[in-house]
Amino acid sequence: MPVETRAIAGATVHIFPDSEAACHAAANQIARTIHDAVASRGRAVLGLATGQTPLPVYRRLVELNRAKEVSFAKVSTYNLDEYYPMAPGDTQSYRYYMEQHLFQHVDLAVNAAHVFDGTVPASFANEYAAQVDGWIAREGGLDLQLLGIGRNGHIGFNEPSDATTDEAVKLPSRVMNLHTVTITDAAHEFGGEGDVPRQAITLGVGTILAARSILILAFGARKAEIVAQALRGPITPKVPASLLRTLPEGRVTWLVDHAAISAVAG
Ligand code: GLP
Repeated sequence: MPVETRAIAGATVHIFPDSEAACHAAANQIARTIHDAVASRGRAVLGLATGQTPLPVYRRLVELNRAKEVSFAKVSTYNLDEYYPMAPGDTQSYRYYMEQHLFQHVDLAVNAAHVFDGTVPASFANEYAAQVDGWIAREGGLDLQLLGIGRNGHIGFNEPSDATTDEAVKLPSRVMNLHTVTITDAAHEFGGEGDVPRQAITLGVGTILAARSILILAFGARKAEIVAQALRGPITPKVPASLLRTLPEGRVTWLVDHAAISAVAG
């Protein structure tokens, strides 16, 4: 249970005592979304995130699946992003992360668990990413998008940009050049900045914003400054997470701990 819930700039912000409790709540919300979507249209479509932040969400979903409290049999998943180029079996790939932490442990069909393929030819990568947008649309759109936030405000790998807000909110899935902050933050996973891929394929801001509900997680003091900018600063593609505020009230829920919300004045 959150210790406090605040309405900030059209978003509901649930503040939890710790990240574990917040992730538990996120997993329960995902399970409810699956139940409701399967009950109303026979399937559920989820947008999933990687990074350190959502790991306890996947642990809890695996527990719920083992306890038969949720089934993934009628679920399709689309991951936010993948490094490019990247082999799916590489231990640094997001495909590998998802297999390790969720896919291999639950009753999700192998052809229903989609992570961008980091081996597509460079000249077709944007076309391929746009095709994935088409698959999501034909599946009826995302019922729920799970998000983390990068220290530079990125969502997925939609990095800060000089686009106008009108352009940015429509951006399709595509190849992105990674921002220096992102490369620095990923360096420890790759054994040094020099080995971090310089590009990624990401779901576009437009694809993310089209989700029927969005859960965004942020924990710890290192996210405090960017959470404050996303919630209280200008709505700008320079802070991609601030674009969530272009959505109608009620679509976006932040799940945070005290440290992550500490720079947002009451
Ligand atoms: C990564 C991912 C994002 C993630 C973010 C934060 O680079 N592409 O989807 O939300 O950065 O990562 P972490 O949760 O490890 O702080």
